[in-house]
Amino acid sequence: MNVVSVQNLTRRYGDVLAVNDLSFTVAAGECVAMLGPNGAGKSTTIEILEGYRHRDGGSVEVLGVDPARATRAWRSRVGIVPQGASDMTDATVRDAISLFAALYPHPRAVDETIDLVGLTAQRDTRLGRLSGGQRRRVDVALGIVGRPELLFLDEPTTGFDPEARHVFWDVIAQLRADGTTIMLTTHYLDEADQLADRVIVVAGGRKVADTTPADLGSRHGNSVRVSWREGETRRDELTTEPTRVVRDLLTRFDGEIPGLEISRMTLEEAYLKLVEEAS
Ligand SMILES: Nc1ncnc2c1ncn2[C@@H]1O[C@H](COP(=O)(O)OP(=O)(O)O)[C@@H](O)[C@H]1O
Ligand SMILES: [Mg+2]
Repeated sequence: MNVVSVQNLTRRYGDVLAVNDLSFTVAAGECVAMLGPNGAGKSTTIEILEGYRHRDGGSVEVLGVDPARATRAWRSRVGIVPQGASDMTDATVRDAISLFAALYPHPRAVDETIDLVGLTAQRDTRLGRLSGGQRRRVDVALGIVGRPELLFLDEPTTGFDPEARHVFWDVIAQLRADGTTIMLTTHYLDEADQLADRVIVVAGGRKVADTTPADLGSRHGNSVRVSWREGETRRDELTTEPTRVVRDLLTRFDGEIPGLEISRMTLEEAYLKLVEEAS
């Protein structure tokens, strides 16, 4: 069963085609990452799915409803963690989460929610006194306190230090294990690789890949990077014919090739190549 279904979605801002004929689905219980560089159209897409932005074309269904006609009942089933942080600064962690909990028919217990995002020690701290990473965890708490069936997270870990990122990844893993369908955006490849069952790569508003993290890595699995030194600079070439490249280099250098290295393409390189080819 599809929880999200998007067909030929288009959105422009003036001359900018921010979302360009995008189609994808998210099945119940899946964790899908929308991965792409800044300006790729991730936030625009997510906000259309959340019912906070209009679209210019295409059809969208989220939990069986067109989000452009969102009702209160529908909203209570969807959790949202927007890209910008919450700006209540005087409320304590506990107060802020209690306030949001009251908006939902079957909220998670407030203390349980605080424990889940790892803010137990900060429950009575005012939001204005939290670190950036802790504030972001409050945002996540506000997104999940209503026990949503579907959770949207827009760049949840941007600006986190590595430790905060790992804590956050554990939170997501736990929500997944509870059966929450999750769609998140990120520009971190390792995050998509770590969290997602499926990765939708976008660049310039277009979908350039929709596959598993493992497949994304092996997609250019036949590509090999041949690298060598030429004077002071290191040169390299991506190729599916490493033997030919090395033979050419042997002719050129007439003997030992300086600093020769041959390596398989990494996931990171496969991703960068996709984005590069699309732009
Ligand atoms: N409110 C807006 N007005 C005009 N242009 C916008 C607006 N929001 C986003 N854009 C443009 O649309 C494109 C996609 O932006 P966005 O959806 O925020 O991408 P991402 O979240 O992937 O960084 C960018 O070129 C951005 O500058
Ligand atoms: Mg964004």
